[in-house]
Amino acid sequence: MVLDFSTELGGVKFPGAVMNASGPNDTTIDELWGIACSESCAVTTKTTTILPRPGNSQPRYWEAEWGSINSSGLPNPGYLAMIETINQLKLRTPKPIIASFSGFNLDETVTLAKALNASKADILELNLSCPNIAGKPQVAYDCPTSEAYLTEVRKVTTKPLAVKLSPYTDGVMQDAMVDVLRRVKPEFIATINSIGNGMVIDADKKLIVIKPKWGGVGGSPIKPIAIGNIRRFYERLPDVPIIGIGGVMNGKDAFELILAGASTVGVGSAYAIHGPDVFGKIQKELGVELQKHGYSTVAEAVGQARPID
Ligand code: DHB
Repeated sequence: MVLDFSTELGGVKFPGAVMNASGPNDTTIDELWGIACSESCAVTTKTTTILPRPGNSQPRYWEAEWGSINSSGLPNPGYLAMIETINQLKLRTPKPIIASFSGFNLDETVTLAKALNASKADILELNLSCPNIAGKPQVAYDCPTSEAYLTEVRKVTTKPLAVKLSPYTDGVMQDAMVDVLRRVKPEFIATINSIGNGMVIDADKKLIVIKPKWGGVGGSPIKPIAIGNIRRFYERLPDVPIIGIGGVMNGKDAFELILAGASTVGVGSAYAIHGPDVFGKIQKELGVELQKHGYSTVAEAVGQARPID
């Protein structure tokens, strides 16, 4: 039996269950077209900012079998160029386009939200959690500022809104963010972003592997943190679909995030390492896991991990 992975979440139809997470290789029309032509069930863009940004100094990305570290620094062509790209892409693909954006203050955030709301993007994803801008804190660790951004974005937008959260390792702060989200009511929670300010050292060379030294860690080491975050939000906000991200290197990982409470799964590091064929591979492997456990849809498996009696 071939599983039907298509689903409708937050009022948006997705032709599958696995998508790219905002981050790697998702800026140019060619990169985005590559994602659109793959089995990815949506096309998520690199986070765009008001001004074009070259990003941090190179080398700023490093990968291993277990995942990756990057300190890209939000390189992007600026929102006006990104909107052109999104609008061009929409002429060529029926897949939902998720436009990720991040302002460096409230005014910028509102300007970006307004402009992207008028674009052909299907979902707006407010990235409150980039770890790699020197001197700029991750807004998601500051609940009052997060609430102010989200509230103002809500006032100027009509499209479904996703909020991209930081990895929380403090349950009290997580619950404070739950309260914010109860008030703002986004259509999606996207969690987790990379774990910021990690460092990888090549012991043989006695070398820190990226030039900016610290970066966001993705891949297998962050999976338990992703699952813990997904589960906390799923238990507290069961009606808000979660785009589960963090450590999905294969279909079994995707299945674990779904059992925790994710309704769909985003892939970052594994896409950076293996390219766009990885989405189809992970979805196929997810299908094997679902069938092995007697599920015929992803929805049946969402949140089904049970506590020990
Ligand atoms: C970048 C942005 C992110 O949101 C992230 O998790 C990692 C890196 C960046 O562009 O630097």
